[in-house]
Amino acid sequence: MPRIHETIVTTRSPDGRGHLAPMGVRHERGHVLLMPFKPSATLDNILASGRAVLNLTDDVRVFAGCVTGRRDWPTVPLADGSGDRLADSLAHVPLRLARQQDDELRPVLWMLPGEQVIHGPFAGFNRAQAAVIEAAVLVSRLGMLPHDKVEREMAYLQIAIDKTAGAAEAEAWQWLRQAVARHRAGGARGAA
Ligand SMILES: Cc1cc2nc3c(=O)[nH]c(=O)nc-3n(C[C@H](O)[C@H](O)[C@H](O)COP(=O)(O)O)c2cc1C
Repeated sequence: MPRIHETIVTTRSPDGRGHLAPMGVRHERGHVLLMPFKPSATLDNILASGRAVLNLTDDVRVFAGCVTGRRDWPTVPLADGSGDRLADSLAHVPLRLARQQDDELRPVLWMLPGEQVIHGPFAGFNRAQAAVIEAAVLVSRLGMLPHDKVEREMAYLQIAIDKTAGAAEAEAWQWLRQAVARHRAGGARGAA
């Protein structure tokens, strides 16, 4: 199984609007592989511009925020004007589209990485951050997953939150819990 890293991918639309999305990426044969599910603004922007920026961040609020409607995270334009990077990141890598393997559901974009620019040090693993990422994946799939599975997994992830979260992780967790509760309430109303 290829290793996957959870990142934030920033792109620009043809009319210059910035877009930000959590994406799992693979590294293969000197390329960064993005696998967006259709339909995807990230996919459309990359096909139009041929570019994206890979952002590596330990601020898990960005992941939790993007899947709960909070997409407005500060970005900084790259020096060459070819895109924007997430302001609060440990590192970023500019990407150029090399080729596309199209697919009805999930195309694979083979991106050539430019030079990585480092902005901050890696502080070590934090279990609450990992728990927020797991829960963000659950929240991004709420429409597809049975509610009892979501509740069981959130209850397990809560342990790492209680033991190891700082303020940012606690805030991100709160957003995710609210999204799960809202979904449940909406589902119950729909079923009534
Ligand atoms: C940790 C994490 C990883 C994700 N990885 C992917 C991915 O590889 N491909 C994808 O299409 N969506 C992924 N998602 C969900 C997208 O971020 C989300 O659906 C987003 O809105 C993508 O659509 P967009 O390009 O239109 O913004 C991921 C979400 C999380 C929280």
